Amino acid sequence: MKNNIIDGKEIAKNIRAGLAKEIEMIKEKYGKVPGLAVILVGHDPASHTYVSMKEKACKKIGMYSEVHRLSEDTTQDQIIELIEKLNKDDKIDGILVQLPLPKGINENIVNYKISPEKDVDGFHAINAGNLFLGEKSFVPCTPKGIIRLIKETGIEIEGKNAVVVGRSNIVGKPTAILLLNENATVKICHSRTRDLAKHVKEADILVSAVGKPEIIKGEMIKEGAVVIDAGTTKVDGKLVGDVEFDLAKDRASWITPVPGGVGPMTITMLLENTLEAFKKRWN
Ligand code: GUN
Repeated sequence: MKNNIIDGKEIAKNIRAGLAKEIEMIKEKYGKVPGLAVILVGHDPASHTYVSMKEKACKKIGMYSEVHRLSEDTTQDQIIELIEKLNKDDKIDGILVQLPLPKGINENIVNYKISPEKDVDGFHAINAGNLFLGEKSFVPCTPKGIIRLIKETGIEIEGKNAVVVGRSNIVGKPTAILLLNENATVKICHSRTRDLAKHVKEADILVSAVGKPEIIKGEMIKEGAVVIDAGTTKVDGKLVGDVEFDLAKDRASWITPVPGGVGPMTITMLLENTLEAFKKRWN
């Protein structure tokens, strides 16, 4: 890694190369490959971009993938019917419903219909519950990637003050639980937190997942902190993180850039989870 920048792109590339090799070996031995099905409902442009990237990433490492692009007016029952079909489909090891779903559809109810063994996003209550209990589970992709990036720095997590900014079910909450499972002392800040700066200044490990450009000012960063920026917002066509990067970089011991930090890890962890699902089903 260059300077103190955590190069998520390079780390993700190396992991994907390992996954591709493993899939090649599986194909030779069993004559089949892991498969991922993605369900995309509606016309959210960011979701369409993410799903296309997921589709390409699967193909590149030799994984089977299918994408079900459904119209905005698809009903909850129609989505559930498709999930039930995919649950029984032998070609499919992982099922992912791209979020957000259109208004009127309950994301949790939809996710509960995915077989927990195929829930590669780790959003099913069984997997979320097992994560909470510290048991083996599918771990949500972005939080899993965040922990992997922290571990790449060689810095020990145990005993550190970790501050997570953001409490979403997709990133903030599971990241906090994973850090707790690694024996960090964990604090979660959110939109109602008073004096955010005071809490952020305590962080040996800071993870921000808010989606508010540069809400974390450089001066809030503790000297020597590890800073993981999982926020991405498009500003004038450019991706901007939650952290004021140029100033934070000088105080942090390690920091992720946006883009090229957490982003490439999310899809990589999805590929890893799908391979894990395949192995669990067929071994
Ligand atoms: N939307 C934004 N991030 C994610 C993710 O990790 N999984 C799914 N299914 N939808 C998302």
